[in-house]
Amino acid sequence: MYVVGNWKMHGSQALIHQFLPKLCEQLSGDVNVGLCVPFPYLPACAGMLSGNVKLGAQDVSEHQTGAYTGEVSAGMLAENGAKLAIVGHSERREYHGETNALIGRKAAAALAAGITPIICVGETLAQRKSGRAEAVVLEQLDAVLAEFQFSSAREWLLAYEPVWAIGTGEVATVAEAQAMHATLRERLAQHSEAAKGVSILYGGSVKPDNAAALFAAADINGALVGGAALKVNDFLAICAAAADE
Ligand code: 13P
Repeated sequence: MYVVGNWKMHGSQALIHQFLPKLCEQLSGDVNVGLCVPFPYLPACAGMLSGNVKLGAQDVSEHQTGAYTGEVSAGMLAENGAKLAIVGHSERREYHGETNALIGRKAAAALAAGITPIICVGETLAQRKSGRAEAVVLEQLDAVLAEFQFSSAREWLLAYEPVWAIGTGEVATVAEAQAMHATLRERLAQHSEAAKGVSILYGGSVKPDNAAALFAAADINGALVGGAALKVNDFLAICAAAADE
């Protein structure tokens, strides 16, 4: 099981100093935990996180180096202690025009630098209401994978984040989330032997009170957590629910 926090553009040095020591001290059980923070906080967090919490970034450049003002390369992330990088979050797709092909190239750049990409897919409310949720999500997955080569399921993570459930308090029902995860699992199995065993995280209003039910579903292998990852007690509770699974 995986529980990865995504701080998005939240946090401060004060939050780091309040959150990280408590997280490392109180975390227990068998769960893979990650925390994806804004770029400038990577060095401070790297110095404070213990081995069982992996540090991550929220984006990465597709390029290794060069004249790309404002971009951050996977090598730079690795040098600053990052082990994970979220790629293709719906907020990057929506506000920065990221395409599936770009997201695939970003995942490839991360992997080449030894960083585990967390590839995000998910449909909007309009797409779900028009009955196209599965088609949209599978198309995203296929198009990203066309640009991204890997040799083992352990090299990356997939996150299903329905856009309508992000930051809205409206969580997908366990049945809705499980159904999409099963669909993704089936497509991964068709893709390749290496893709078959990839862990699929659910994201979208995961909280301490709904985490256990989600984690009990057969194809939900963890969570990508936004708002609740800014409150250390909530994040610890979600990690504990994953460890119990
Ligand atoms: P919330 O948990 O705040 O809905 O955010 C989910 C998310 O976007 C994680 O990447």
